[in-house]
Amino acid sequence: MFITFEGIEGTGKTTQIKLIKAFLEGAGHTVDVTLEPGGSRIGKELRKILLNMDSTDLTGESELFLYLADRAQHVSQTIRPAIEAGKVIISDRFADSTIVYQGYGRGLDPKLLRELNDVAVSGCWPDLTILLDIDPEMGLKRAMTRNLQENKMQEEGRFEAESLEFHNRVREGYLTWAALNHERFFVVDAAQTPDEIFEQIKAKTVEVLKNR
Ligand code: TYD
Repeated sequence: MFITFEGIEGTGKTTQIKLIKAFLEGAGHTVDVTLEPGGSRIGKELRKILLNMDSTDLTGESELFLYLADRAQHVSQTIRPAIEAGKVIISDRFADSTIVYQGYGRGLDPKLLRELNDVAVSGCWPDLTILLDIDPEMGLKRAMTRNLQENKMQEEGRFEAESLEFHNRVREGYLTWAALNHERFFVVDAAQTPDEIFEQIKAKTVEVLKNR
């Protein structure tokens, strides 16, 4: 089973991934957690280029192809082997991030991005995608505080430094894309407490597992 988590910065994806991993392990599943960009050896190198504040000369098209390269490598090295081994694999971001950030955010054509993603994922679309939805003003405040606390602003702050307007487009893009793919998406209001959010994610995950 393949589960992905999506949402703008500061929605609490990491916290929820930890909680659902512990829950699923408690229920007897073997669970691997991975992320994009950077879920493979090559991907870790790509992540440095993609998220560093100094990558100001990266063109929109190059950025897109680096994310797709990261994903193709991630699927072949990490995700597909885990699925074939009968594990639950959870990814912090996946193909939908490209459609939403490079598409709705940066203005590339979402339909073309969906087709390019098809090449990168080669059949490995998630069984369940959890979208943590939050007002960008609230999310960004949380993400900036975290980056400052962990001293990661330079290395990882390229997207957090984008305008509020960009993040508003991303948020709206996520909601539009989730509605278009409602059979796989589950949208949760991330302004609730972590416990409240987790209860909803848990119930949905159990339901999807049961129906497989
Ligand atoms: P990361 O620090 O992992 O952010 P978060 O903790 O919010 O997940 O950085 C990933 C950034 O890369 C995030 O801002 C979204 C962006 N991104 C894209 O623009 N396109 C993509 O395809 C992916 C996977 C991520």
